Amino acid sequence: MTRHFLRDDDLTPDEQAQVLELALAFCDDRYIRKPLSGPRAVAVIFDKPTLRTQVSFSTGIAELGGFPLVVDGKLAQIGKRESIADTAHVLGRQVAAIVWRTHAQSRIEEMAAVAGVPVVNALTDDFHPCQILADLATVAQHRGGVAALPGLTLAYVGDGANNMAHSYLLGGATAGMHVRIGSPDGFRPDPGVVADAERIAASTGGSVAVVGSLAEAVSGADVVATDTWVSMGQEAEAIERETPFVPFRLDAAALALAAPDAHVLHCLPAYRGKEITADVIDGPQSIVWDEAEFRLHAQKALLTFLLEAR
Ligand code: NVA
Repeated sequence: MTRHFLRDDDLTPDEQAQVLELALAFCDDRYIRKPLSGPRAVAVIFDKPTLRTQVSFSTGIAELGGFPLVVDGKLAQIGKRESIADTAHVLGRQVAAIVWRTHAQSRIEEMAAVAGVPVVNALTDDFHPCQILADLATVAQHRGGVAALPGLTLAYVGDGANNMAHSYLLGGATAGMHVRIGSPDGFRPDPGVVADAERIAASTGGSVAVVGSLAEAVSGADVVATDTWVSMGQEAEAIERETPFVPFRLDAAALALAAPDAHVLHCLPAYRGKEITADVIDGPQSIVWDEAEFRLHAQKALLTFLLEAR
């Protein structure tokens, strides 16, 4: 059966741990198989802006022996010039896998339903699961391995309704972590995602909490994460989106509430002085550059897993 990675809970806890172990192995050059050798092409399609994702997938696919075929969504106009289903049929006959950054989650689900090859979510409005794999692998590397993840408290503050918050809920719960989301009224996570995360946490020993203050979220946390207050596609609302989030800014005083050895994550791009202050993101507790590097290792691990699972 063709496996896809459309949301974080498309991997079971065991499978997620396996992918994270593989990511650490790729990081240390302990794993050098090339499942895309031939080379086989992987379509990497962008309907939204990108830097890290394009570079990390392109580099990773090349390092796996394959050929990254980057497609500009503005030219392809998937769903407009040609239906998603017809596009999926065409791509599935030519490439080994499809990586897609797009808008609605339903678009990538439609692609996966027809493609016949693994489809990977490279960010949608609702989830950013590849980023969370990278984040978990980064934390694992700093904490002595994948086995150290269960039981850690991961706090995310800011826009609780965005793709990062949703993926932290599902991916963190899958890893057996205690996930706390601190966000203002009107920017809380989707209740359906929270319910799914709670169900997963009940089986992994993790937990899920959605709270209304930064202090409640961050106090004693082992990992503290934030993200832009204005996600791609929300640029027109930038001004009105700022005020509600100001009390959720990750600054030195906020970080002081976390565990003394807490690590700071940010998926980038970061807006210093908005969701995070420069002293925090550029400070000694920040592991954001390792996190950016782990996009490469985690996505190589994920592609290897999906291609070998077929
Ligand atoms: N929430 C952000 C994540 C960027 C990697 C966005 O969707 O723009």
